Amino acid sequence: MSPVSADAATDRVAAKRDHSHSNAARVEGLLARFHQIRDFTNTLCADLEPEDCVVQSMPDVSPTKWHVAHTTWFFETFILKKFSPGYRAEIPEYAYLFNSYYNAAGSMHRRDLRGLISRPTVREAQRYRASIDSHIDSLLSRADEKLVDEIEPILVLGFHHEQQHQELLVTDIKHVFAQNPLYPVFRDVALASSQSIGKARQQFIDFEEAIIDIGHDGRGFAYDNEGPRHRALVPVFSLSSRPVTNGEYMAFIEDNGYARPEFWLSLGWMTVNEQRWQAPLYWTKHEGAWWHFTLSGFRPVDESEPVTHVSYFEADAYANWAGARLPTEFEWERAASDCPIEGNFVEDENFHPRALSNSGADKRLHQMFGDVWEWTRSAYSPYPGYRAAPGALGEYNGKFMCNQYVLRGGSCATSRSHIRRTYRNFFQPEKRWQFTGIRLARDPQ
Ligand SMILES: [Fe+2]
Repeated sequence: MSPVSADAATDRVAAKRDHSHSNAARVEGLLARFHQIRDFTNTLCADLEPEDCVVQSMPDVSPTKWHVAHTTWFFETFILKKFSPGYRAEIPEYAYLFNSYYNAAGSMHRRDLRGLISRPTVREAQRYRASIDSHIDSLLSRADEKLVDEIEPILVLGFHHEQQHQELLVTDIKHVFAQNPLYPVFRDVALASSQSIGKARQQFIDFEEAIIDIGHDGRGFAYDNEGPRHRALVPVFSLSSRPVTNGEYMAFIEDNGYARPEFWLSLGWMTVNEQRWQAPLYWTKHEGAWWHFTLSGFRPVDESEPVTHVSYFEADAYANWAGARLPTEFEWERAASDCPIEGNFVEDENFHPRALSNSGADKRLHQMFGDVWEWTRSAYSPYPGYRAAPGALGEYNGKFMCNQYVLRGGSCATSRSHIRRTYRNFFQPEKRWQFTGIRLARDPQ
């Protein structure tokens, strides 16, 4: 071998070593993230008893045990079954029980009957979880660069999927506990009292007409429904500096807001009457004052906190009563473009929206992220040029683009690392069990 080709061979060996080092570092990073997210689900369940984990209090709510197993099924179905040669499911029937809505992945158990499933037990569901985690560990640890390239996007989708279920786990256990006259405490968190915080005045911030870029720019992870990025004309508008508070919402209730059809959409008016709504979900009049069920137990409603657990119909009626409207999702995204992604998220473990402190009196946007999801008046529909991906994972978002409204900004049950300025959450207009709130917008006066 000539000195030149010897040098080239040495270079090749060194490059290969560098490559395998960088692949090892990448796998290490992915596994660290995987375990961090999986562990946080376990942390959320840490104080729950097995009896808590099997109740389904309404069709929208899933038992904690189901969330624990379904998030595991996701990694098993879309990674292990696809990429791990010779992988055989220990209990093949779990594929039927823990599939949620992926028709391309096979048939599934009825969503509204999840609370009737006492087996597998909670302990068995946790064992399933641990077993899939160790399979993922060993698959990734021996994966070469090409395989990691294939697995990584699905694994990262699995992280975000699990974070979504962490949020549902929190809101679902709240609904479960709220049915219990003993009002169980999920976490005993001292909530700041309005006396110590004071009241932050609502102000409106003006935005000029502009053509802006809407949607994700492709740097880092995003769901497919956040794209394609496109241009949109956003006419002049103003946006409230903070979400509507409980105190402000009480004024709507006291002004007979729930009994005055002039504020309500027709469908909303029908729903209010059918459901006999008189206040947000979890609110009760107790000895002449409003109280509500929180994840820290039954408490007086704090007037300074953002109002939450309101439907789109209530948010819209409140806005009409207040002489304002809900923002469009484009207005919201434009306004959020300069806001740092900080706020009260699930990692803070308050599990409840927080009142804005006195420092919130300055004229800028506050609480755009965290605390409460903000209803927009935008129907959840595809952006121009949107195409759902083929196969089961293409069922993630696209097929839900009908009869739902977009919410923005995340809540006290959302992970900080999960939310983005372009993030589009969506629910049907009558849903109230998520931490949903209101931020007002206005047209030029
Ligand atoms: Fe899911």
